[in-house]
Amino acid sequence: MNINTKIGLSDAELDELSFDNFDEAINPKPEDCDFDAIVEQALSRRGFMGGVLAMGGVAVLGASTTALTPISAEAADNRFGFKAVSANTEDTITVPEGYNWHVATRWGDPLFSDVPEFDHATRGTAASQARSFGDNNDGMSLFTDKDGRQILVANNEYTNRSVMWGNNPDGKYVTDDDINKGKNAHGLTACELKEVDGKWGIVKDSPYNRRFTPDEPMDITGPARGHAMMKTNADPDGVTALGTFNNCGNGRTPWGTYLACEENFNGYFHPSADGFEQTAEQKRYGILKDRGYGWWKVDERFDLSKESNEANRHGYITEVDPYDPKSKPKKRTALGRCKHENAEVVVNSDGRIAIYMGDDERGEFLYRYVSDGYYAEGGNTDELMEKGTLYAAKFAADGTGKWLALTPETTGMDQATICMFTRMAASKLGATTMDRPEWVTANPLKAEVYCALTNNKNRGLKTNAGGDETPVGGPNPREANKYGQIVRWWPSAGDHTADTFRWDLFVMAGNPTVHQDANGGSSNVNEGNMFNSPDGLSFDNKGLLWIQTDGNYSNEEDFAGQGNNQMLIGDPTTGEIRRFLVGPREAEITGIAWAADRRTAFVGVQHPGERGESNWPDGGDKTPRSSIVAVRRDDGAAMG
Ligand code: FEO
Ligand code: CA
Ligand code: CA
Ligand code: CA
Repeated sequence: MNINTKIGLSDAELDELSFDNFDEAINPKPEDCDFDAIVEQALSRRGFMGGVLAMGGVAVLGASTTALTPISAEAADNRFGFKAVSANTEDTITVPEGYNWHVATRWGDPLFSDVPEFDHATRGTAASQARSFGDNNDGMSLFTDKDGRQILVANNEYTNRSVMWGNNPDGKYVTDDDINKGKNAHGLTACELKEVDGKWGIVKDSPYNRRFTPDEPMDITGPARGHAMMKTNADPDGVTALGTFNNCGNGRTPWGTYLACEENFNGYFHPSADGFEQTAEQKRYGILKDRGYGWWKVDERFDLSKESNEANRHGYITEVDPYDPKSKPKKRTALGRCKHENAEVVVNSDGRIAIYMGDDERGEFLYRYVSDGYYAEGGNTDELMEKGTLYAAKFAADGTGKWLALTPETTGMDQATICMFTRMAASKLGATTMDRPEWVTANPLKAEVYCALTNNKNRGLKTNAGGDETPVGGPNPREANKYGQIVRWWPSAGDHTADTFRWDLFVMAGNPTVHQDANGGSSNVNEGNMFNSPDGLSFDNKGLLWIQTDGNYSNEEDFAGQGNNQMLIGDPTTGEIRRFLVGPREAEITGIAWAADRRTAFVGVQHPGERGESNWPDGGDKTPRSSIVAVRRDDGAAMG
């Protein structure tokens, strides 16, 4: 049967969907989902939620021992260092009084002097795009070389077809060059940034400037290297993959490398022939159909009818050395395969490396990796992300939790298969199905970790793609969760390798002007700071939590008064949250990095005008462009 007939939606209808709704459409609700039991559970939890809110404490939910400590308004002003900005729907960036911003770089900016400037009429070519800043920047880090030069590495997650090909009559690709332009806009960009006359910009022709497109050769490392399911027609040894794409959040290692995290890699593969039947593994990872990018038409490895294993080589964390522009990136299969959001690397007190990672899909899991070896500054780091153990989180309603080790003994799967089909390994152990785990960040001042659970309209209503139920409760306390929450946990005895932890919710987002129940949010949410769908998270050096949103920007009904996507700053001690920045229309705020002197914070603005209602940042009737903005204080003092 034709895939569209099976799904019941046309290509045009599928192309309009977001990544998560696309996955929803290709994974219809299974008939054996125990719907009634789940709903019953949800209803009985409602009484509990009312109790939590009546007690007015965000820390109450997880029975935490960490009470939030109220402080005076003046002390809070000193700690935050700014006055909150109001929600708005302007097509610009809003920052607090005493701060300023400018665009440091954006989609299509040339990395080399022989590449033309971005052409708003044509939006460039495949060739110009391969040597210019990629599209839809997301996670990023800034590195400093021995001479003080600043090297930015940024993910270019995906492209909005209506923007990339907005010069064509119906906003779709027409030629092979269109398809390849879109393909080359994916991947990563590395470039040197410099501040000249008060404005940051790309240093053209810097030896650090480099694009990593979906055709860049990468070493497959770790347990899955050379496995039969990693072998393809083009790479019969299963050791060299081409490209990294759909990288969402990121990570950086203490040894100065960049981690790109491959997320919605599934929507680029497509069968050219009718009659394609998914394997159980392909079903779990949503490999069925192209989302309208067309790569399979120009590159056979994306054609599921001709190459069944290429998809097994994507969905990993890829390590890049920004200091060596000739270096070959490494796909680190030991860190598992899922829809990776970011990778938060922590050096434990004993020197082992713990890496926290979310799998951003409704009802998927939260993971941790612990290295076998120990990190020492200047020591050999080759095996730290090769040899170690993966764990999935299991949360209990009483505010405690456990890390479940994914090993051949516990799962009955061999090590390579655990790394390739990590979701299936975690399902076997009954890990907690989560409300879409996005970024994880660790407090630099104490053993405390936060994860944004962005939203989950299926909570309590539908299983995940593996058939695991998604009961309401624990860190996922609201049925059909519209607004999202941030969970945090404390490893036992401050040890990031410990098997147990305590947890609570730092915030439940909501709209207290519309809802009086749990959808009004936790007590640290009010009319002046409300938001939905927390996504990017990063601690600064002072121990404040920067929160970025990727949510509903309709400013209507459930989301009335919340305006455009935004960035807020939270105080982990008091629970106070203040809005610091509001983005332009139809954009998400995602990715943050600081200049070496901490006087500039770089903030990512992704997909402005994804539905046609923005011309930011160039204004007039110009093409909207994802950008990285530099935010500074007017007085030039350090921030964050
Ligand atoms: Fe690319 Fe989970 O956001
Ligand atoms: Ca994104
Ligand atoms: Ca994200
Ligand atoms: Ca998101």
